[in-house]
Amino acid sequence: MSHQLDDNSYSSANAIAVAGLNLALSFENASVERLEKRLSECIVPEVKQKILHHLDQTKKQQERLRERIRVLGTGMTPTSEKGRLAIPEPPHKLKMMIESSSSDKEREVWESLNDLIIERAEAIMYRGGIQALQLLKADKKTIKELEKCLKEEEAFGDWLEKNNPKVAKRLMTTQIEDKKQGKKKMRKTTQEEKEEEAVSAAAV
Ligand SMILES: [Fe+2]
Repeated sequence: MSHQLDDNSYSSANAIAVAGLNLALSFENASVERLEKRLSECIVPEVKQKILHHLDQTKKQQERLRERIRVLGTGMTPTSEKGRLAIPEPPHKLKMMIESSSSDKEREVWESLNDLIIERAEAIMYRGGIQALQLLKADKKTIKELEKCLKEEEAFGDWLEKNNPKVAKRLMTTQIEDKKQGKKKMRKTTQEEKEEEAVSAAAV
């Protein structure tokens, strides 16, 4: 009887674990798509390099999750669906306003904040998942795999948290400098035009 109970609790723990793993996989599926998009748009070389590295890690995370789903779900097909990432959604009008008036550099700063939010949300998800699996006394190997994922999310999140402010400062300083240079150039051009006009007027 007690053996029966253990079996039942084990299989329900397994079912919850498989659901949780599929949920994590659905977020990683969405994450790969976003990281690829960021990779094509990012204008900061060192951030781009980190995104590329994390894209590679994320693909490996997908593989590890798929493998655990197949094992625990006894041959179940892992989900290929994409969950919705934890990106804050501003009110529509405000979003339009920001998108239409932002420069490339400003857009990079907005997106780098979203990168950080996503990584932190992923870490929270893995931490909660690990805790749940420990409480359910679920498969140890699965917990180990999730711990690996958690470490990678935390490492990238830490890097972003440390470097985002520096990168933003650099981008905004260059933008202000570029604007100043642009104004100077414009002023110079108008001055040169005036002088040229004066010369040609004198020649007439
Ligand atoms: Fe991640």
